[in-house]
Amino acid sequence: MNRAGAGVAKDLHPAGSGSSSTQSRPSSSATASPRAHTRLVAGRYRLFDVAGCGGSGVVWRAMDDVLGRQVAVKELVPIPGLIPSEQQILQERVRREARTAARLNHPHIITVHDMIEDDGRPWIVMELLRCRSLAHLITDHGPLSPPQTATIGLHTLAALCRAHRHGVVHRDVKPANILVDDRGRAVLTDFGFAADHNENPLTTTGFLVGTAGYIAPERARGRPAEPASDLWSLGVTLYTAIEGRGPYDRDTPLATITAAAEEEPDPMRLGHALKPLIDRLLNKDPRQRPTPEQIDRELRKLSTAATGGSRNQGHRADGWAFVGCLW
Ligand SMILES: Nc1ncnc2c1ncn2[C@@H]1O[C@H](COP(=O)(O)OP(=O)(O)O)[C@@H](O)[C@H]1O
Ligand SMILES: [Mg+2]
Repeated sequence: MNRAGAGVAKDLHPAGSGSSSTQSRPSSSATASPRAHTRLVAGRYRLFDVAGCGGSGVVWRAMDDVLGRQVAVKELVPIPGLIPSEQQILQERVRREARTAARLNHPHIITVHDMIEDDGRPWIVMELLRCRSLAHLITDHGPLSPPQTATIGLHTLAALCRAHRHGVVHRDVKPANILVDDRGRAVLTDFGFAADHNENPLTTTGFLVGTAGYIAPERARGRPAEPASDLWSLGVTLYTAIEGRGPYDRDTPLATITAAAEEEPDPMRLGHALKPLIDRLLNKDPRQRPTPEQIDRELRKLSTAATGGSRNQGHRADGWAFVGCLW
């Protein structure tokens, strides 16, 4: 399913679609066409390779011919069958995504260089990360260790705190939207669903955006997203990273949302070190969730507990030497 912005059914990604590889790929002829590989966008950005795909488009590795540096260029892929006004909403969402991320300017938030118009559509030009999404890391290499999970959690929390301080709720925190670079830095990306208090709402009241399994219970019950809703999604993300599966994975998106809203998380098999914190993050009542300061304190203990500084470098299960050799 795509981010068509036309209600629950279209806006929701499939259950467990933490990985862009499991999301339905946009039907872009651009990804396959040889012409696309030499395509020049806005007379300046030369697309040469697909870096990744998500619910709304394709992210290209590209060369900025003017500055002579590599960049990532996000293309919104038109969805066949949408009426023009729906396409326009999607396009406006991309423009907002670019403005919102550009405004936040944080080491753990993707850096947006530019937003351009080409072929009647907006394109976002970003820093090109040598990265894997957290979803791909989990799919390809299985669950992460507690220190790795805690470190990614700390970085994502820092990104969320910056966003929340600026009146932005991300609304789609999940492993596919967290990029982990080759030094272990996690970067939050994809502000396409963000609610930004500087912008008028794009989503019609009563419509739910996000990804099944990562939507906080209060949002599933129709309440607006708040910072604590992102913290709930962070809890699901940490659970997924350390367990290798989501806490509420069910066969359909609706069953997953219902489980997330009403049931306890599935028992953990691996992530005992993080369990007390994750349990608190997954509290159904947003007011009962821990504060960012409390989360930061807990994650910091876990991220340093097993790395033991430089002495442990090279140990596969400890620290980022492990992630660094994943690609
Ligand atoms: N700046 C970047 N550098 C490298 N790869 C990226 C970058 N941004 C996104 N990607 C890759 O593209 C995928 C989809 O990006 P995302 O912004 O989430 O798109 P969508 O809005 O379509 O979900 C990511 O999971 C990642 O694999
Ligand atoms: Mg995405």
